[in-house]
Amino acid sequence: MTKLLTGFRPEHAELWGRHPVCIEHGLADTGLFSDDALAALLEDYPRENYDLLHMAEQGTGNLAHWTEGDLGRVRGREALDAITSGRLWINLRRVHEASPAHLELLEAVFAELAERVPGFHPYKLNLGILISSPGAQVYYHSDVPGQSLWHLRGAKRVFVYPNRAPFLPEEQIEKVVLSLTEAEIDYEPWFDDYATVFDLQPGQMLHWPLNAPHRVENGDCINVSVTTEHFTTSIQNSYAVRYANGLIRRGLRGPPPLPNTRGGSFWARAALTVAVKKSGLLKARKLEKTVEWELDPAADTRMRAVTPLV
Ligand SMILES: [Fe+2]
Repeated sequence: MTKLLTGFRPEHAELWGRHPVCIEHGLADTGLFSDDALAALLEDYPRENYDLLHMAEQGTGNLAHWTEGDLGRVRGREALDAITSGRLWINLRRVHEASPAHLELLEAVFAELAERVPGFHPYKLNLGILISSPGAQVYYHSDVPGQSLWHLRGAKRVFVYPNRAPFLPEEQIEKVVLSLTEAEIDYEPWFDDYATVFDLQPGQMLHWPLNAPHRVENGDCINVSVTTEHFTTSIQNSYAVRYANGLIRRGLRGPPPLPNTRGGSFWARAALTVAVKKSGLLKARKLEKTVEWELDPAADTRMRAVTPLV
């Protein structure tokens, strides 16, 4: 496969994972994200691997109007048209499991990155596709794995914030790691003064430091982007420590120490994480979703209410 990171320069290897970077890419040339390809993916996409959401208007700043829907029996092309004309947002998760061609692309992208960035050994790769309507937005949040956003269509303004307090208090990232919250964390409008802001164009990708909070405002046009996730040993270790710290914080008084991914205390925390994850103790406390509507291409809002289903 030809090079996918067409704009990669030597300094990007040094910045990777340490500072937000914006690099030109050639994902659109693969043909895997054309309307036909997206419509084909939407047809019978596994229910457990997508989120179809209705979002509040920009500037609302809260989650009150974030509701979950279902594609229903709408055909792929109609679904694509409805999503792109309503105030809707679909996140196709684990696309690499549904499509061998996307898996090949995912592996090629990370093989190229591993070749270009010394010491970068990614694994547990994941590829998702976000299709969102004009004016849609993604609220301030933080993700657990390493993340990159590969923009393909439309205009997106992406705000990336420092990955430490007060933008990301330890207690909040621990909650995200424990899956006690859906990646949302507390946001204050003044945080924007300290954000790095990118007006992302099609053919550009963004990668930011681990857990760096971010939020996205779409321009007045349809947006199509790919998200990739990856783990490395250091990301996995930081996850294990935060998971254990989160458990300790919930069982003991006082704040636990900052993440420490070395030495005896690291291994004790890693062992606690493995023990709790194996026991399934936290499973019942995870968030559940309620589907409140179904896609309806004929409706003004492109939505039809259904009996809420968990
Ligand atoms: Fe994200």
